[in-house]
Amino acid sequence: MSKIELINIKKQYRQTEIVKGVDIQVEQGEFAVIVGPSGCGKSTLLRMIAGLEDITSGELKIGGKVVNHVSPDKRGIAMVFQSYALYPHMTVAENIGFALSLQKVNKADIAARVKEAAEMLELSPLLKRKPAELSGGQRQRVAIGRAIVKRPQLILFDEPLSNLDAKLRVQMRAELMRLHREFGSTVIYVTHDQVEAMTMAQKIIVLNQGVVAQVGKPMALYEQPANQFVAQFIGIPKMNMLAGSIKGNTFIGENQQQIPLAHNYPEHAKVHLGVRPEHLQLDRSGSGWKVFLVERLGVETFLHLRDEAEQQVVIRLEGDSPVSEDETLGLSFDAQRCFLFDANQQRLSPNIEQLKHVENRA
Ligand SMILES: Nc1ncnc2c1ncn2[C@@H]1O[C@H](COP(=O)(O)OP(=O)(O)O)[C@@H](O)[C@H]1O
Ligand SMILES: [Mg+2]
Repeated sequence: MSKIELINIKKQYRQTEIVKGVDIQVEQGEFAVIVGPSGCGKSTLLRMIAGLEDITSGELKIGGKVVNHVSPDKRGIAMVFQSYALYPHMTVAENIGFALSLQKVNKADIAARVKEAAEMLELSPLLKRKPAELSGGQRQRVAIGRAIVKRPQLILFDEPLSNLDAKLRVQMRAELMRLHREFGSTVIYVTHDQVEAMTMAQKIIVLNQGVVAQVGKPMALYEQPANQFVAQFIGIPKMNMLAGSIKGNTFIGENQQQIPLAHNYPEHAKVHLGVRPEHLQLDRSGSGWKVFLVERLGVETFLHLRDEAEQQVVIRLEGDSPVSEDETLGLSFDAQRCFLFDANQQRLSPNIEQLKHVENRA
């Protein structure tokens, strides 16, 4: 029984509230990722779940029981940190088995469980080595071995791949997902990297300044962001935002460009129109946007454009594109792919009446 529930969890250091009333549910066996920018309270949240930090207010439940005051070693949780902090004088086998020897598990059982963990992590040939004789990825696997050997019902990861190079990070992502499938534990994984969240999570929890901005499956966050923060945090390059106003089903930009929308919206004097770089098209017969940077990556090209109001957008084009810097072009917007956000950065819904009308027609 390892369903995890956070109910209105708050954390205050002196006068400052760091975590401001967080509600999260993670199902048994689920791989949940908490993602957010540096300093938003991710590690604080994880440390409260592990019991390494007091909870100022709210309830933490594991398997239906309130565990706010249960000591860390009685919570059935293991944690893997960004800095793996292996014991340098111990071998890989000793590092992995250390927690069990502290628990006075007998030697034969320790050896069997270390062997099992090592096989799962492909560390068997390295058991006699010391950490100094391992690569970064191997050290990270030892740190994970140390966690899973305890057979925890819940594993917490705090930015475990941040110290690895890009290629190894990709490899370790796949490995962690495989381990999760084999091991079946509930996982809460914290990262600032939205790519890790998108590729690994069954459920993403986006955290911003100590508040949950949105919870959902990766593609749901990409396709239906609830607010401007999530819209711009998920997806690279980030979603373009243009300032303007709405009248009926037309967006009127600060540069006076009129963009037809897919629906009628309530009239708003101050909105942002959001559109992803992959959903913008070039309009070669149009004007108003000057190319100031072209990034050619082979598989794709990013064009950076600026209008007279100094607004900037990025467009992603497939493959190479015969566009040069200083060219002036128009943009064409796919109405179905545009989002609108109000002055409070919340996503606007189209007028209900019109949607009903559309549904009736369909
Ligand atoms: N022990 C502490 N005392 C005071 N402030 C802290 C303490 N630990 C963390 N903070 C503050 O709480 C905020 C969130 O920190 P943290 O949870 O580490 O963020 P993240 O892991 O998302 O980068 C930061 O502004 C940090 O400075
Ligand atoms: Mg952190």
